[in-house]
Amino acid sequence: MDKIIEKSPSESYSEISRLMLPPDANPMGNVFGGTILKMIDEIGGIVAVRHCRKNVVTASIEHMDFLYPVHIGNLVKLKARLNFVGRSSMEVGVEVYAEDLLKDEIHFTGRAIITLVAIDENGKPTDVPRLKLETEEDKKLFEEGYQRYLARKKRLNSNNGT
Ligand SMILES: CC(C)(COP(=O)(O)OP(=O)(O)OC[C@H]1O[C@@H](n2cnc3c(N)ncnc32)[C@H](O)[C@@H]1OP(=O)(O)O)[C@@H](O)C(=O)NCCC(=O)NCCS
Repeated sequence: MDKIIEKSPSESYSEISRLMLPPDANPMGNVFGGTILKMIDEIGGIVAVRHCRKNVVTASIEHMDFLYPVHIGNLVKLKARLNFVGRSSMEVGVEVYAEDLLKDEIHFTGRAIITLVAIDENGKPTDVPRLKLETEEDKKLFEEGYQRYLARKKRLNSNNGT
Protein backbone atom coordinates (compact mmCIF):
# COMPACT_ATOMS: atom_id res chain seq x y z
CA MET A 1 0.00 0.00 0.00
CA ASP A 2 1.27 3.52 -0.85
CA LYS A 3 2.49 5.53 2.12
CA ILE A 4 0.28 8.59 2.74
CA ILE A 5 2.41 11.69 2.28
CA GLU A 6 1.69 14.71 4.48
CA LYS A 7 3.23 18.15 4.21
CA SER A 8 2.65 21.20 6.38
CA PRO A 9 1.59 24.62 5.02
CA SER A 10 4.90 26.07 6.21
CA GLU A 11 6.75 23.85 3.70
CA SER A 12 5.13 25.60 0.73
CA TYR A 13 4.71 29.12 2.19
CA SER A 14 5.96 31.64 -0.38
CA GLU A 15 6.55 35.35 -0.91
CA ILE A 16 7.20 37.34 -4.08
CA SER A 17 7.88 41.06 -4.61
CA ARG A 18 7.85 43.19 -7.73
CA LEU A 19 8.37 46.88 -8.47
CA MET A 20 5.40 48.42 -10.32
CA LEU A 21 6.49 49.97 -13.65
CA PRO A 22 4.61 52.03 -16.30
CA PRO A 23 3.37 48.97 -18.32
CA ASP A 24 1.66 47.74 -15.12
CA ALA A 25 -0.55 50.82 -14.81
CA ASN A 26 -3.02 53.14 -16.54
CA PRO A 27 -1.92 56.59 -17.83
CA MET A 28 -2.66 58.14 -14.41
CA GLY A 29 -0.25 55.73 -12.71
CA ASN A 30 -2.83 53.48 -11.02
CA VAL A 31 -1.78 49.84 -11.25
CA PHE A 32 -4.22 47.57 -13.14
CA GLY A 33 -6.11 45.00 -11.07
CA GLY A 34 -5.00 42.49 -13.69
CA THR A 35 -1.34 43.11 -12.83
CA ILE A 36 -2.03 42.08 -9.24
CA LEU A 37 -4.21 39.14 -10.33
CA LYS A 38 -1.37 37.83 -12.50
CA MET A 39 0.98 37.96 -9.50
CA ILE A 40 -1.66 36.15 -7.42
CA ASP A 41 -1.87 33.46 -10.09
CA GLU A 42 1.92 33.14 -10.11
CA ILE A 43 2.34 32.84 -6.37
CA GLY A 44 -0.61 30.43 -6.13
CA GLY A 45 1.19 28.22 -8.64
CA ILE A 46 4.46 28.42 -6.72
CA VAL A 47 2.79 27.37 -3.44
CA ALA A 48 0.84 24.55 -5.09
CA VAL A 49 3.85 23.15 -6.97
CA ARG A 50 6.00 23.37 -3.84
CA HIS A 51 3.35 21.28 -2.06
CA CYS A 52 2.82 18.58 -4.68
CA ARG A 53 5.87 18.85 -7.00
CA LYS A 54 3.55 18.28 -9.97
CA ASN A 55 2.18 20.41 -12.78
CA VAL A 56 -0.81 22.51 -11.69
CA VAL A 57 -3.53 24.62 -13.34
CA THR A 58 -5.60 27.44 -11.87
CA ALA A 59 -9.18 26.30 -11.35
CA SER A 60 -10.56 29.47 -9.72
CA ILE A 61 -9.67 32.84 -8.25
CA GLU A 62 -12.18 34.22 -5.78
CA HIS A 63 -12.74 36.80 -3.05
CA MET A 64 -10.47 39.48 -4.46
CA ASP A 65 -11.06 42.92 -2.92
CA PHE A 66 -8.75 45.81 -3.80
CA LEU A 67 -8.67 47.83 -0.58
CA TYR A 68 -5.97 50.40 -1.29
CA PRO A 69 -4.68 51.94 -4.54
CA VAL A 70 -1.30 50.78 -5.87
CA HIS A 71 0.83 53.16 -7.95
CA ILE A 72 3.82 53.04 -10.29
CA GLY A 73 6.95 52.94 -8.13
CA ASN A 74 5.32 50.89 -5.34
CA LEU A 75 6.91 47.59 -4.38
CA VAL A 76 4.13 44.99 -4.36
CA LYS A 77 4.67 42.06 -2.03
CA LEU A 78 2.54 38.89 -1.92
CA LYS A 79 2.49 36.35 0.90
CA ALA A 80 0.76 33.03 0.25
CA ARG A 81 0.03 29.80 2.08
CA LEU A 82 -2.06 26.68 1.68
CA ASN A 83 -5.39 26.77 3.49
CA PHE A 84 -6.94 23.52 2.34
CA VAL A 85 -6.09 20.46 0.27
CA GLY A 86 -8.61 18.03 -1.23
CA ARG A 87 -7.71 15.01 -3.36
CA SER A 88 -6.20 16.95 -6.26
CA SER A 89 -7.13 20.55 -5.45
CA MET A 90 -5.21 23.01 -3.29
CA GLU A 91 -6.68 26.25 -1.93
CA VAL A 92 -4.12 29.03 -1.42
CA GLY A 93 -4.75 32.21 0.57
CA VAL A 94 -2.84 35.25 -0.73
CA GLU A 95 -2.25 38.60 1.04
CA VAL A 96 -1.17 41.61 -1.01
CA TYR A 97 0.86 44.55 0.35
CA ALA A 98 2.13 47.68 -1.41
CA GLU A 99 5.18 49.53 -0.13
CA ASP A 100 5.59 53.22 -0.94
CA LEU A 101 9.37 53.23 -1.12
CA LEU A 102 9.75 57.03 -0.84
CA LYS A 103 7.39 57.42 2.13
CA ASP A 104 8.50 54.23 3.90
CA GLU A 105 4.86 53.10 4.24
CA ILE A 106 3.40 49.61 3.74
CA HIS A 107 -0.31 49.26 3.01
CA PHE A 108 -2.38 46.10 3.13
CA THR A 109 -3.93 46.12 -0.33
CA GLY A 110 -6.09 43.04 -0.45
CA ARG A 111 -6.45 39.30 -0.16
CA ALA A 112 -7.49 36.56 -2.54
CA ILE A 113 -8.27 32.89 -2.52
CA ILE A 114 -7.08 30.81 -5.43
CA THR A 115 -7.59 27.11 -6.11
CA LEU A 116 -5.17 25.08 -8.17
CA VAL A 117 -5.50 21.50 -9.33
CA ALA A 118 -2.60 19.10 -9.86
CA ILE A 119 -2.73 17.39 -13.23
CA ASP A 120 -0.93 14.39 -14.67
CA GLU A 121 0.67 14.04 -18.10
CA ASN A 122 -2.80 13.55 -19.65
CA GLY A 123 -4.19 16.73 -18.06
CA LYS A 124 -6.28 14.71 -15.59
CA PRO A 125 -6.52 15.64 -11.88
CA THR A 126 -4.04 13.67 -9.79
CA ASP A 127 -3.52 13.15 -6.04
CA VAL A 128 -1.55 15.63 -3.93
CA PRO A 129 -0.05 15.18 -0.43
CA ARG A 130 -2.42 15.62 2.52
CA LEU A 131 -2.04 18.74 4.63
CA LYS A 132 -0.32 18.31 7.99
CA LEU A 133 -2.06 20.71 10.38
CA GLU A 134 0.46 21.86 12.96
CA THR A 135 -1.04 25.01 14.49
CA GLU A 136 -4.45 26.26 15.61
CA GLU A 137 -4.29 28.71 12.68
CA ASP A 138 -3.67 25.78 10.27
CA LYS A 139 -6.75 23.99 11.65
CA LYS A 140 -8.97 27.08 11.48
CA LEU A 141 -7.94 27.91 7.89
CA PHE A 142 -8.36 24.27 6.84
CA GLU A 143 -11.92 24.12 8.21
CA GLU A 144 -12.84 27.42 6.51
CA GLY A 145 -11.26 26.15 3.28
CA TYR A 146 -13.20 22.91 3.56
CA GLN A 147 -16.49 24.82 3.83
CA ARG A 148 -15.58 26.83 0.70
CA TYR A 149 -14.59 23.58 -1.07
CA LEU A 150 -18.07 22.15 -0.34
CA ALA A 151 -19.75 25.38 -1.51
CA ARG A 152 -17.64 25.35 -4.71
CA LYS A 153 -18.59 21.75 -5.43
CA LYS A 154 -22.26 22.61 -4.97
CA ARG A 155 -21.95 25.66 -7.28
CA LEU A 156 -20.07 23.68 -9.95
CA ASN A 157 -22.58 20.82 -9.83
CA SER A 158 -25.49 23.22 -10.26
CA ASN A 159 -23.65 24.98 -13.15
CA ASN A 160 -23.29 21.59 -14.84
CA GLY A 161 -26.98 20.96 -14.37
CA THR A 162 -26.23 17.73 -12.48
C1 LIG B 1 -9.40 22.27 -13.16
C2 LIG B 1 -9.64 20.99 -13.98
C3 LIG B 1 -8.33 20.24 -14.16
C4 LIG B 1 -10.63 20.13 -13.21
O1 LIG B 1 -10.87 19.01 -14.00
P1 LIG B 1 -12.25 18.17 -13.86
O2 LIG B 1 -12.21 17.09 -14.86
O3 LIG B 1 -13.38 19.11 -13.81
O4 LIG B 1 -11.99 17.47 -12.49
P2 LIG B 1 -12.95 17.06 -11.30
O5 LIG B 1 -14.37 17.51 -11.45
O6 LIG B 1 -12.67 15.62 -11.08
O7 LIG B 1 -12.32 17.91 -10.11
C5 LIG B 1 -11.00 17.71 -9.73
C6 LIG B 1 -10.70 18.65 -8.58
O8 LIG B 1 -10.74 19.99 -9.05
C7 LIG B 1 -11.63 20.76 -8.25
N1 LIG B 1 -12.22 21.75 -9.13
C8 LIG B 1 -12.76 21.53 -10.34
N2 LIG B 1 -13.21 22.70 -10.86
C9 LIG B 1 -12.92 23.67 -9.94
C10 LIG B 1 -13.13 25.08 -9.89
N3 LIG B 1 -13.70 25.77 -10.89
N4 LIG B 1 -12.72 25.75 -8.79
C11 LIG B 1 -12.11 25.09 -7.78
N5 LIG B 1 -11.88 23.76 -7.77
C12 LIG B 1 -12.28 23.06 -8.85
C13 LIG B 1 -12.62 19.76 -7.72
O9 LIG B 1 -13.23 20.23 -6.53
C14 LIG B 1 -11.74 18.56 -7.46
O10 LIG B 1 -11.05 18.73 -6.22
P3 LIG B 1 -10.57 17.44 -5.36
O11 LIG B 1 -9.85 16.50 -6.28
O12 LIG B 1 -9.63 18.04 -4.35
O13 LIG B 1 -11.78 16.84 -4.75
C15 LIG B 1 -10.26 21.33 -15.38
O14 LIG B 1 -11.51 21.94 -15.21
C16 LIG B 1 -9.37 22.23 -16.21
O15 LIG B 1 -8.39 21.78 -16.81
N6 LIG B 1 -9.70 23.55 -16.26
C17 LIG B 1 -8.86 24.52 -16.98
C18 LIG B 1 -7.73 25.02 -16.08
C19 LIG B 1 -6.85 26.01 -16.75
O16 LIG B 1 -6.42 25.82 -17.88
N7 LIG B 1 -6.57 27.12 -16.05
C20 LIG B 1 -5.75 28.18 -16.55
C21 LIG B 1 -6.55 29.36 -16.97
S1 LIG B 1 -7.00 29.25 -18.66
